Amino acid sequence: MTIATRPSKHDVADLGLAEAGARRIAWAAREMPVLRAIRERLAKERPFVDLRIGACLHVTAETANLMIVLRDGGARIALCASNPLSTQDDVAAALVANEGIAVFAKKGEDRDTYYAHISSVLETRPQITMDDGADVVTELHTRRRELLPDVRGGTEETTTGVTRLRAMASEGVLAYPIIAVNDALTKHLFDNRYGTGQSAVDGILRATNLLLAGKIAVVAGYGWVGRGIASRLRGMGSIVLICEVDPLRALEAAMDGFEVTTVVAAARRGDLFVTATGNVNVIGREAIANLKDGAIVANAGHFNDEIDLGALGEQATSRRELRPFVEEFALRDGRRIVVLGEGRLVNLAAAEGHPPAVMDMSFANQALAVEYLVTKGGTLAPQVYPVPRDLDEEIARRKLEAMGMKIDEMTSAQSEYARSWKAGT
Ligand code: NAD
Ligand code: ADE
Repeated sequence: MTIATRPSKHDVADLGLAEAGARRIAWAAREMPVLRAIRERLAKERPFVDLRIGACLHVTAETANLMIVLRDGGARIALCASNPLSTQDDVAAALVANEGIAVFAKKGEDRDTYYAHISSVLETRPQITMDDGADVVTELHTRRRELLPDVRGGTEETTTGVTRLRAMASEGVLAYPIIAVNDALTKHLFDNRYGTGQSAVDGILRATNLLLAGKIAVVAGYGWVGRGIASRLRGMGSIVLICEVDPLRALEAAMDGFEVTTVVAAARRGDLFVTATGNVNVIGREAIANLKDGAIVANAGHFNDEIDLGALGEQATSRRELRPFVEEFALRDGRRIVVLGEGRLVNLAAAEGHPPAVMDMSFANQALAVEYLVTKGGTLAPQVYPVPRDLDEEIARRKLEAMGMKIDEMTSAQSEYARSWKAGT
């Protein structure tokens, strides 16, 4: 175990959980070979000496491994949660007690505490921000503008965060460059699709112990996350309906063999609903009015506004917790609607989030994106940038290697053929 100085400032649930957290971090590390290789290199090269990083990510065992890599590269890190329900309290304790990393996060924290924790991270005057959903960037650009001159750049982990940042950039208000980690192929093709596909089903099952076989499951959104969830629910024997607003994605869903229909029509039939759109009130008032008695609704998108919980609450005469992360709303007309994980991302609220093997690639992108920002110094304009393609490919190569897989290389004749326009029939 690393013996590091305990940070003077932190706020975690119980430092007594540190040993359990350390075991969880070590278990995750076994499945993160790409990040391990990056850690070994950065620990030698120390490119981040005294760099202040302010991170707002889900505080999980996988995130802990990323924090350790950055710390070994020389960074001074403060970490808070990017969702009030996603923190693993034992991991948070281990980071503080064993790794000397300042963490401000408690599972189940209220809204005020959530923002107080972001504020504690900002008090460390970060030079690099690392967001999952752009809450730190938003705080910096609204209530804490005096801190902006210190910031050299940032990274963003998720689709919703990248959407918010692009909106800021197009309005000309973004003050520093951000690398859109989400948009790397080694991120969203695997994390959003297979990571959420598996972990959202995991969250639903841990919360409910539901038999998925034979159930009608409705997935709203057929983007990267929705495709993953739909394919995994189908794999478990559910009859899956897809709801979309984008005709191309709806068509793709149809040709992938799913029935495509509207949310309101699906509401009458579904036993289980999972939203994955990054949009608001997707299961809205009208859909709620159509839900069957006993319908279960869950969200896997970033914010807890995909299910109109306000409308559901208005129609409810009572609410009760049936099991952890399972709440039943009894409605005036006698129907009972079940909401999982308070409508927050079900995979992180009711389970442990994505398995480390996918976070290995997402967080390799994060570590290399920070290194890229440091190397580029102040040369990048305040825009949203992709992860450079060569870094994305390097991560894919390292992952394949760690999985024991080899790929072919083009011969020189093939390379020439691929570049030429003259060769034909
Ligand atoms: P995406 O843009 O690839 O897909 C979103 C899809 O939702 C699009 O196809 C869009 O047309 C559709 N959509 C939008 N509004 C809709 C509506 N009203 N009804 C039906 N469909 C609608 O994005 P993504 O990468 O799949 O991410 C989706 C959400 O999941 C985002 O909020 C993202 O931040 C989040 N996310 C969560 C996790 C997790 O761990 N739970 C992981 C990655 C991403
Ligand atoms: N997002 C989804 N799963 C995650 C995990 N295991 N750790 C950090 N962020 C995540």
